This record gives sequence, C-alpha cells and structure tokens, in this order.
Amino acid sequence: MAIRTIREEGDDILRKKSKNVELIDEKILELIEDMKETLKKYNGVGLAAVQVGVLKRVVVIDTYEEGEQFVLINPEITKTKGEQTVEEGCLSFPNKFGKIVRPAEITVKALNEKGEKIKLVAKGLLAQAVCHEVDHLNGELFIDKIIPGSLEIINPDEK
Ligand code: NI
Repeated sequence: MAIRTIREEGDDILRKKSKNVELIDEKILELIEDMKETLKKYNGVGLAAVQVGVLKRVVVIDTYEEGEQFVLINPEITKTKGEQTVEEGCLSFPNKFGKIVRPAEITVKALNEKGEKIKLVAKGLLAQAVCHEVDHLNGELFIDKIIPGSLEIINPDEK
C-alpha cells in the first residue's frame, strides 16, 4: 500500500472523463487499497481515481459513519430525489469551499471490489459524496457548480 499524490487545481487531468473498468485485476485492487489509504491520510470523505492520476471509474468513500465505507467501480446514479444545499470541498482544491445544491437522495448501482453488483440508496452526506465523486469521473468539478457568492478561500497565502 502507498499514499498517492493528489492532483490539484490546475492539473488538466481533473477535466478528463474516466473509462470503465473492464477487469478488476491486481492493478485495480492495488489502486483501490492505495486510494483508501490516501483518503484516510487526508481525512477526506471521497476520492476518485482521477484525483490520483488514473482515468478509471473507481471511487472510494468514507463518511466516517458506521457502515458507510464503500468502493464503487463503474458507479451509475440511476435515480435522484429532492434537493439539499450543502457545504462542499474537495481534496483537489484544499483551500476552497462553497455551497452547492445536490440531490437529497440517490440510488447508485456499481460493482464492489469483488466484482459483485451492488445497489445503494443514499441520503445526506453519503448522497452528496457519491454525486461529487461521480462528477469527478465525468471530469466535472464542484467548483463550477457552487452557488455564486458562496466560495470561501481558506489561508490563500499557504497555497
Ligand atoms: Ni473532489
């Protein structure tokens, strides 16, 4: 296992679309383990493979609530319900935060790391995290979706 370098704002790869995983091989499993470790190190809620420079549709999520740790391979949001306005940030934008409107509830289908089909109905932070990470897989960034005027930059001098 290893901590991988997180690609940050300005890196063109973050705007690229990730490709489906066709085979869950050793390389993908190693990527997943590294992503879990990297997420933990930076106290993130979610991480998409593109953020460590790999254009594959792989996401890891941990809301720090019991039972809310997920590996999602080739995730697809199949249903959304309602809206929630939430504070959001991203490990690729370490100093930026803003308010964003996300679905209140989502249904997502994916494969887990064993290649099993899973279906998840999520609300609150978990729904927000899944939407944020699926956006990453499509080259979409939260910064483009935040409610105008809600952007906060923390410690800009440290950048
Ligand atoms: Ni992010």
